[in-house]
Amino acid sequence: MQRRQLSMARAGRSAKLVAMVSPKPPPLYRRLADRVESMIADGSLRAGERIPSVRQFSRQHDVSVPTALQAYMLLETRRLIEARPKSGFYVRPRPAAATLDEPAPARHAPSVSTLSRYTPMVSLMRDLANPALVPMGGAVPGHDLLPARRLARIGASLLRRQPAACNAYDPAPGSLALRRELSRRSLDWGCGLSADDFVVTTGASEALQLALRAVASPGDTVLIESPAFYGLLNIIAQLRLKVVAVPAGPAGLDLDATALALGRGRVAAMVVTPNFSNPLGALMPAENRRALLSLAARHGVPVIEDDVYGDLPHEGDRPRCLKGMDTNADVILCGSFSKTLCPGLRIGYVAAGRHHAAVLAQKTAFTVGSPTLPSLVVAEFLRDGGYERHLRKLRHTYRRQVARMRDTVADVFPADTKVSNPAGGFLLWLELARGVDSLALCAEARAAGISIAPGPMFSPDGRFKNCLRLSCGFPWEDRMAGALATIARLAAR
Ligand SMILES: Cc1ncc(COP(=O)(O)O)c(C=O)c1O
Repeated sequence: MQRRQLSMARAGRSAKLVAMVSPKPPPLYRRLADRVESMIADGSLRAGERIPSVRQFSRQHDVSVPTALQAYMLLETRRLIEARPKSGFYVRPRPAAATLDEPAPARHAPSVSTLSRYTPMVSLMRDLANPALVPMGGAVPGHDLLPARRLARIGASLLRRQPAACNAYDPAPGSLALRRELSRRSLDWGCGLSADDFVVTTGASEALQLALRAVASPGDTVLIESPAFYGLLNIIAQLRLKVVAVPAGPAGLDLDATALALGRGRVAAMVVTPNFSNPLGALMPAENRRALLSLAARHGVPVIEDDVYGDLPHEGDRPRCLKGMDTNADVILCGSFSKTLCPGLRIGYVAAGRHHAAVLAQKTAFTVGSPTLPSLVVAEFLRDGGYERHLRKLRHTYRRQVARMRDTVADVFPADTKVSNPAGGFLLWLELARGVDSLALCAEARAAGISIAPGPMFSPDGRFKNCLRLSCGFPWEDRMAGALATIARLAAR
């Protein structure tokens, strides 16, 4: 403790910030195992292929034999390699994840709910971020995956250069430096927005809230996906809005059911997540997006697009935003850097098209503006902090973590378990046997030190009782396999 204090004092204030946020690097054997795991995940090493002996591996990587052996043992624990008697180590055949079915799209009539029976499940939400639990509940990135050290350095340097950043309000629409960076990035989203199109917000949560306030009044009905992100349900309940929950599947909203719901009564807005939704991880195909926009235009309904996971495809180009296809300026794009960069800085944005003035008025009335320093930190990181490079690494990591979690689910859950297979983001949606009560399961898992999110959290009226969401945001740890086995055992009871 004394040594740590001494070195912190020596390194000065900015380093103090850094020391508080920078985790210890994982041990060498774990990094070696991770490297081999990546090679298996990206197909450089194939199932059934022989890998170097422990001795060869230690020479290749210039590490001791015990370190190489430890790395191999970890890979065995992770069920990625196996030792064959008198023959050496081989890459294991891919586990049964490939054979697991995906949950069928939800099938229920779109019905209006007042959310009077929806409970915010605040204690559950606190658990989702409780570090004492095995972290498979909250949709949050593992801390080691975020560039906290670089952000802290930018923050410290900004404070030295512009101490006035703390003195001044930054009234809505917020930091021009940040809005310029958002404008630049919007080309990648297929939108080509200008800095003046954006309002900086406190996370995507506030963006969604402002968007809803701008287009809907208490008592109005909002169309949402079923299942939907529980944070959205919370906002809608607090705004005293009603919802019509429309079934969704791996391709997003069911369009027939959407048309039905829109035809039945006035809908003030729809909220959709076309790019890797929460909890389904759905990616809406281009033709569905066009059809959705034309439905919205026909019924004169503004579309609120939640794009918090859009930057996180596992492979290939970033999917475009619905907003880029919008010819009516009636799509309100909401996003944030919470899943990619810095959930704690709470930086989000909204580009509201024809509703810009209404959003601006709401933001000004409720919070005046967003915190100045976090906006500047994110702007500077986006400008020259290597965001693209960071994203490339993060996408690869999330892909690996999702694959690992799916494989383990396939190993430990019964064969009729269904699990989503998202092409981006870091969430998995599981459908268990019919009788399973995931709220009870979640409570038992919690008692066993495990955090998961039960299905009914994602529904305004208690649906998805036998479903649960697993977050793969945290790097795989071997205790997660044990935790999944525990959940499977509890569910089987
Ligand atoms: C789909 C979706 N929208 C919005 C949010 C909220 O984002 P933020 O933390 O930026 O407020 C989340 C966070 O989990 C989310 O999953």
